This record gives sequence, structure tokens and C-alpha cells, in this order.
Amino acid sequence: MLPGFSVEVLSEVDSTNTELMRRARAGLTDPVLLVGERQTAGRGRLGRDWKSDTQGDGGTLTFSLGLPLQPQEWSGLSLAVGLSVVQSLHPDLQLKWPNDVWWQGRKLAGILIETASAGDQRYAVIGIGINITPREGDGLRTPPAALQELMPEVDAPTVLQRVAAPLVHAVLAFSSSGFAPLRNAFHARDLLYGQPVVCTDGTRGIAKGVDAGGVLLVHTEAGVLKINSAEVSVRPAPPPFST
Ligand code: BTN
Repeated sequence: MLPGFSVEVLSEVDSTNTELMRRARAGLTDPVLLVGERQTAGRGRLGRDWKSDTQGDGGTLTFSLGLPLQPQEWSGLSLAVGLSVVQSLHPDLQLKWPNDVWWQGRKLAGILIETASAGDQRYAVIGIGINITPREGDGLRTPPAALQELMPEVDAPTVLQRVAAPLVHAVLAFSSSGFAPLRNAFHARDLLYGQPVVCTDGTRGIAKGVDAGGVLLVHTEAGVLKINSAEVSVRPAPPPFST
């Protein structure tokens, strides 16, 4: 299915990202696709937990791709990954900068990218969690969406089949060409474009898409601000705004 990659399925793991980062630190940096049927300590961006179904019954697809990578710029990788996922799955799925997949105003999938050193290269660990079957909100601010609401015929293995190979191609294409060639395709899926937003650093304004490096552009009363994904989260905000 994935030339050059080994594919491994663990019935239980703390986190597929944590496991691949552990392996990388131990010098194991071969390309691998690691699926965790059950994660006991899933992690999200900005140090948050990432809760998925804990039964291991396929309610959530959780996996990480690990590979040596040396792009000219890392900025925009999470957008390229999200774009590949939505393009593999359904035209109605949208992207909420920098790395969430949303459907009908609810989060459906999340992406966590981490890196470790691997000799003179970096080893990238690209973790993706996709809700497959509907589940409770678990106290999340935004109740999650599930892919079966939109595509009742899919299950976790078929979703993995659909997304894995295009994802590898997208990551390798990003490594050689960067984010700029994907900018228009991202804008076509951009949930925030033209919307009032509020960032966790207090910035408020109107989201105006991303620049050629995938940095979010927010029009504020003080001008256009560039928002870096490592620092803040962005949420849709109610109007009014005068920018
Ligand atoms: C986020 O929404 O903040 C990112 C969520 C990323 C979740 C996936 S599930 C597979 C991989 N292992 C983890 O612990 N996290 C990622």
C-alpha cells in the first residue's frame, strides 16, 4: 500500500505520536505508518489531551506517519496534511487553520505534527485522529462531528486506505515544493476565510486566508497581522468588526 513504509497496528498504545517520537529518540527513523486501535494518552496541539473513543472499537481512526523529512520550510506542513485528508475524503469537509478538519460547524479530525532529530535530517511524526462514529462531547467546547454522519458507508480501515497513500504523496510533494502551490486549494476549503475570528493571544479581526507559507492573515484595526500556528489557536467569533 505504501512503498518504502512499514505498516504496524497496535491494539493499544499511549499515543501513536509519543511512540514514534520515542522510537526516533532511540534512533529508529525508518518510514512507518503506525495505527493505534486504542490510545490511552492521545495528545493534541498546544499540550492538550486528545480524547478519542477508548474502547478500540473503530470509533476513531488514530494513526501517525513517521518519516525523515527535510523541507525547505516547515511552515504550512500541517495545512498540506489537512488538505490531503479532506481531498481524500469528501468535498464538503473544510479546514480550520492550522490543522483541524471541520464539518457543519464541528470538528471532525485533528492533526499533530512533531519532529525529532535524525542524523543530519529531521524525523517528522504526523499524527492524525479522525472521528468515524458519533460520540459524546466529553466536555469539549465544540461537540465533535463524525465521518459516518456524512459518509455512512465508511469504517476506520476503509478511511485509512483512502487517506494513507495520498498523504504520503502530499508530504513528499510538500517537502520538495513547499506550501505555496497549495494555497488556492487551501482557500477553497478554508472555514475561516472572511469570518470574524478571535485568537488566543487576544487578536481579533477578519481572517483573510493564508500567505504563501501558510501563515494566517488577520485583518485588524491595526492592519494585517500574521498569525503563527505554533503560538495561538483561532476560533470563529461573533461580529461586529469594523475592519
Ligand atoms: C489536535 O486536534 O489538537 C490534534 C489531535 C491529534 C490527534 C492524533 S491521534 C493520532 C496521533 N496520536 C496522538 O496522540 N495525537 C495524534
